[in-house]
Amino acid sequence: MSTNKPVTAATLMRARQQGEKTVWLTAYDATSAQLAEAAGVDVLLVGDSLGMVLLGFDSTIPVTLEHMIHHTAAVVRGRKHAWVVCDLPFGTYQASPEQAFTSSVRVLQETGCDAVKIEGGVAMAESIRFLAQRGIAVVAHIGLTPQSVKKFGSYGKRGKRNDEKTQLLRDAQAVDDAGAVALVLENIPTELATEITAAVNIPTVGIGAGSDCDAQVLVWHDLLGISESNPPFAPAYADVRKTMNTAIARWVADVKQGVFSI
Ligand code: KIV
Repeated sequence: MSTNKPVTAATLMRARQQGEKTVWLTAYDATSAQLAEAAGVDVLLVGDSLGMVLLGFDSTIPVTLEHMIHHTAAVVRGRKHAWVVCDLPFGTYQASPEQAFTSSVRVLQETGCDAVKIEGGVAMAESIRFLAQRGIAVVAHIGLTPQSVKKFGSYGKRGKRNDEKTQLLRDAQAVDDAGAVALVLENIPTELATEITAAVNIPTVGIGAGSDCDAQVLVWHDLLGISESNPPFAPAYADVRKTMNTAIARWVADVKQGVFSI
């Protein structure tokens, strides 16, 4: 899209209707927000992936609302016009629509972001409706939902079996009917993502879900090659880890050899 007008949920819907792809990227601080925007990213997702890529947890389960608020506020300070979405972390919305509302209010008031994202389909539809009816923009997330890793036991592809496929189609329909403004589809077969994209009325955002989705999202550290290893569906477009390693090692060597003189 790349205009300087603020991106809104309506902008994303219009782009879908006009067949224009939108670009989402995770961001966790003001600098990454500025860099992503300057490169034409439309939506900055403050994913709870920050628990793994920034904070060293082995899953997203330990991430708290305070972590999300801290990082989302920084992203909002760095952005000029991108739409900023904050993940509600595990345990801060699943108990009830009221809990989801209370957590969303904190996130929106304390960070200035534009939308919240929650994982789940049919099971979260009542909460999504509750939030949408109260004026909150909600992005839903189905397929591989990392907050349920303890239930599924892995980060593998979802929707390969027929029963899973039927359930994911139901999930997509349910969150659309409930008033979600966009739908993330993570690590599901391309054909299923294509079918869901055709079936729903809201923009779909793929990650490991093929190229027919209305938008694509990647995790910052995966895209830039900062992660130690990437999931198979997340290509690295650079080798920033190596660049950083080399720079740090050169400086360490210069200091140790006494040739760093500034
Ligand atoms: O937490 C996250 O970064 C996400 C994206 C992978 C969609 O949810």
